[in-house]
Amino acid sequence: MVVGLDIGTTKVCAVIGEKNDNGTLEITGVGTSPSTGLRKGVVVNIEATLQAAASAIEAAEMMSGREVYNVWTGIGGSHIDGINSRGVVAVTGKNRETREITDEDVLRVLEAARAVVIPMDRQVLELIPQSYIVDDQKGIRNPLNMIGVRLEAEIHIITCSVTSAQNLVKCVNRAGFHAQGLVLQSLGAGRAVLTEEEKELGVALIDMGGGTTDVMVYSEGAPYSTTTIPAGGTQVTSDISIIKNISADTAEKIKLEAGSCWEGACGGDEDILVPGVGGRPPLSIPRGQIEKIIRPRMEEIFCMVKGTLDKLVLSRPLGGGVVLTGGGSQLLGAAELASEIFSLPVRVGAPLPVGGLVEEYRSPAFATAVGLVLEGYDRELQGAAERSGKVRERGIPLFGRLAEWLKREFF
Ligand SMILES: Nc1ncnc2c1ncn2[C@@H]1O[C@H](COP(=O)(O)OP(=O)(O)OP(=O)(O)O)[C@@H](O)[C@H]1O
Ligand SMILES: [Mg+2]
Repeated sequence: MVVGLDIGTTKVCAVIGEKNDNGTLEITGVGTSPSTGLRKGVVVNIEATLQAAASAIEAAEMMSGREVYNVWTGIGGSHIDGINSRGVVAVTGKNRETREITDEDVLRVLEAARAVVIPMDRQVLELIPQSYIVDDQKGIRNPLNMIGVRLEAEIHIITCSVTSAQNLVKCVNRAGFHAQGLVLQSLGAGRAVLTEEEKELGVALIDMGGGTTDVMVYSEGAPYSTTTIPAGGTQVTSDISIIKNISADTAEKIKLEAGSCWEGACGGDEDILVPGVGGRPPLSIPRGQIEKIIRPRMEEIFCMVKGTLDKLVLSRPLGGGVVLTGGGSQLLGAAELASEIFSLPVRVGAPLPVGGLVEEYRSPAFATAVGLVLEGYDRELQGAAERSGKVRERGIPLFGRLAEWLKREFF
């Protein structure tokens, strides 16, 4: 059994997966609970967060009939940062005659690549090998057993704030569970919605949540850039609430039922009736007016993302375009507006088919939660394969050992 726990700004979602007879993962339980203890993806209220986590897990347990202890927990927020680094070593190899690259060489080169200065208040969250260079041969995914003199590694290092990570782990532990590992939320979302082809061609994944918009750029099959924009769907709702002078709940309802950010995306221009408060007469707002409120905020978020994308030096353009996911990507017209701003093809990404995942949860809002359980399963398999000395898959050799090493260093 593998469990993914996505602790978001607006909702907490737990997903339970179990290995079926064919060896693939099947979803057997999903539970959600509204979240109030986070601000912009970061825990600000331990008690509220642990209660939301406990009730989401409990709901998932009820559905699957299993009891949960270990959970793969997602982490996100503005404190997440990604950098690219490279390291180089001379191949020593066990067999000095042939200079075959061994596990040890790969570990050493990754060790060299991760030697970057990280401030005391930050910790390494993920260490993802992008590709290796053996002598002059570039773009090697798995250098094991190749023959060479010089081994170079290019890696993507994702760091996070130590205290934010500790608070998250504390919530999970205090809720009575064990945080088996922290997984970057956007890696989870990417695992659930992106195809291998898109990652290979280069794609920007934009996870539009309630509090933050997380951007993960994949280039040549591996993560290349990780950034977070501290704005999301909650801002859109509060714009409507402030401008129309209505409660946040009503504004949220209007957004979900009649909101759009692209002219003509929602059809006609009829009026929306908002019930009056305290005996006042109901308020009628034309749909077009709501669009005029929502659009500038969505434009602002996309332009901030574009700003970060424009700064990247990619070896080739984003052939896989842009994929929007997260609850906010369901806003009518989001793909059209994004396509205009990025001048790239855009699609809205829901989780790709996974066994047992019911229709209700095959929505962009559950991409991260579904991805976390898939990613957790991959990591467990990888760790088990390495412990038993079998060949590594996924082009990320030594993943389990790296994860264990990270754990030893930081938990
Ligand atoms: N159909 C919809 N149209 C427009 N917005 C929507 C729709 N459904 C959900 N949203 C918005 O999506 C946001 C929540 O998205 P999501 O559930 O992905 O966030 P989260 O994971 O809780 O937050 P975060 O990832 O920022 O921590 C809310 O702001 C909500 O208003
Ligand atoms: Mg989220």
